Amino acid sequence: MTTQITKNIDTAATALQSGKVVAIPTETVYGLAGVIYRQEAINDIFRIKERPLANPLIVHTHSADSLPEFALDIPEAAFKLADAFWPGPLTLLLRKKSNIPDNVTSGLDTVAVRVPSHPVTASLLRELKQPLAAPSANPFGRISPTTARHVFDYFEGRIPYILDGGACSVGLESTIAGFENGLPVVYRQGAVTAAQIKAVAGSVSVKTASTNTPKAPGMYPRHYSPRTPLIVTDNVKQALADVKGLNTIVIGYSKFCRDVVVEKKIVLPESGNFEEAAARLYSTLHYADSINTDIIIAEKFPETGLGSAINDRLMRASKK
Ligand code: TXA
Ligand code: MG
Repeated sequence: MTTQITKNIDTAATALQSGKVVAIPTETVYGLAGVIYRQEAINDIFRIKERPLANPLIVHTHSADSLPEFALDIPEAAFKLADAFWPGPLTLLLRKKSNIPDNVTSGLDTVAVRVPSHPVTASLLRELKQPLAAPSANPFGRISPTTARHVFDYFEGRIPYILDGGACSVGLESTIAGFENGLPVVYRQGAVTAAQIKAVAGSVSVKTASTNTPKAPGMYPRHYSPRTPLIVTDNVKQALADVKGLNTIVIGYSKFCRDVVVEKKIVLPESGNFEEAAARLYSTLHYADSINTDIIIAEKFPETGLGSAINDRLMRASKK
């Protein structure tokens, strides 16, 4: 199979309608998409991604209005969050209706739903009038893709089309929130922060602990990983001293890097803002992983705002 990178939404829509798997751009990361009702497409997604069958997929839909088509017992707080953050980088975990095929949700009685804001995929979903299941378009455990090229490098020859929507503007996977007793619980951190959720819903708790049997999945302790060993530290100078003699690249968040003497270093937020750092995080990891260094050292971000979602990804990426 040849893999074509295309900007043509109709081409992608036709392939999806015929049960094919197509990579799509979203504002967070690229997804590996199939129509949720096409059994063969869903099976192919798991196979191509080498994803454990017990790890369910997110359903992407064109509008919050379609929520009641997929979910039951929707808490008031869910409508409020949908209103505030959709379209956008928030996924809601809700009780599923029986029309959602079990292979999409890995047999769970919940479904994860999100309305992406990327204009290309928003148009695609409107044109299709069918929801798309889409995990991030990376082989299981690897760094998520934020450009069409990243997807091509992973899956060339395995999927017919990659719909090119440019570089992802957010760059981290969506925040995942579910509800316990009607109150929001964050299971995966992302660009919509716990503080923002609290401001809208009145309360929030955060349960993002690592586990090997994820109930609120995505929470595999090792994930998002480069092949090159990665050390995450808040003391870059010390880490550099510890790996003296190795060929090293440093990824930093701050201007600190000015006085760190190392040949290869990348400061993520050139402007000092964390949105920019998040948007560049995965591209930078892909790059660092491609240049044949012995080790990548990443500086921990301050645990404020997006910093904690970035640290979460860095920590998982660094697990052996
Ligand atoms: O930003 C995103 O969410 C991207 C883009 C493509 O939309 N998608 C994404 O999908 O990150 P994925 O599959 O890489 O991560 C989704 C996470 C998985 O860890 C999965 O276990 C969890 O969501 N998930 C999906 N359905 C679930 C469910 N019913 N219950 C609990 N967790 C669920
Ligand atoms: Mg993923």
